[in-house]
Amino acid sequence: MKEVLILGASSGIGLDLTNKLLNSGHRVFATYCKNNIMISHPNLVTGFYDIQNSNTFDFELPEKLDGFVYCPGTINLKPFRGLKQDDFELEFQVNVVGFIKSLQLLLKPLKKSNLSSVIGFSSVCAQSGFNFHASTATSKAALEGLFTSLAREYAPKILFNIIAPSIIESRLSEHLLNTKDKVERIASTHPIPRIGQPDDIASLAQYILTESSWMTGQIIKVDGGKSRLL
Ligand SMILES: NC(=O)c1ccc[n+]([C@@H]2O[C@H](COP(=O)([O-])OP(=O)(O)OC[C@H]3O[C@@H](n4cnc5c(N)ncnc54)[C@H](OP(=O)(O)O)[C@@H]3O)[C@@H](O)[C@H]2O)c1
Repeated sequence: MKEVLILGASSGIGLDLTNKLLNSGHRVFATYCKNNIMISHPNLVTGFYDIQNSNTFDFELPEKLDGFVYCPGTINLKPFRGLKQDDFELEFQVNVVGFIKSLQLLLKPLKKSNLSSVIGFSSVCAQSGFNFHASTATSKAALEGLFTSLAREYAPKILFNIIAPSIIESRLSEHLLNTKDKVERIASTHPIPRIGQPDDIASLAQYILTESSWMTGQIIKVDGGKSRLL
């Protein structure tokens, strides 16, 4: 049984992953911020954590942690001329600084495990150029650089891998997918012409956390073929 902390488990990929891990017998420490986690399970511990204002977790951390998954993220699509410095700074806070702060709180229990695994989420836009993604791409690319560096520094004890999705149906993307026309148009930009689902990403995250032991420093694109085949 693995012990995994999922920061941002109240919706989307984090919620799907929480369900998957619980259903396969693992113990999950799951955080929420603005929305409650609407599941209960004997192996689930939940607590509030706000990446901008919290300095501790409001549950007791286990002595040893086998996995940490950081789910907060942003999609802020604007032409570059409309982006203010604040846009860049806010996205950097959520995607990068929030991860750094929470990892620093978790390093001790992660080091106690024989082999622990940290997963973050970038975006297909960090390495493929799309219109209006300048701010989001900047902070996701920074997260990719950070993970690559940490993977080197903590090998072989702690594994660091990133999953880089294209659009996934979740609370984060609902403003982009709120009409049938938008859904069809965005789906059609993928060689596999559909919108991604949380399960497309969470099933890979589950594999990395529970099965994989010889992979670190990777940025894995799960994007309906968008980054390689267009
Ligand atoms: N959805 C997409 O199209 C897409 C595409 C590419 C990459 N990604 C990346 O994939 C990751 C997961 O996205 P998702 O679609 O699953 O998002 P989501 O459904 O919005 O879930 C995000 C989770 O992070 C938590 N969170 C957000 N802000 C927080 C804060 N300030 N402090 C603490 N927790 C916070 C949310 O908690 P509360 O709801 O309780 O506040 C929620 O549990 C993100 O890094 C995102 O950038 C997503």
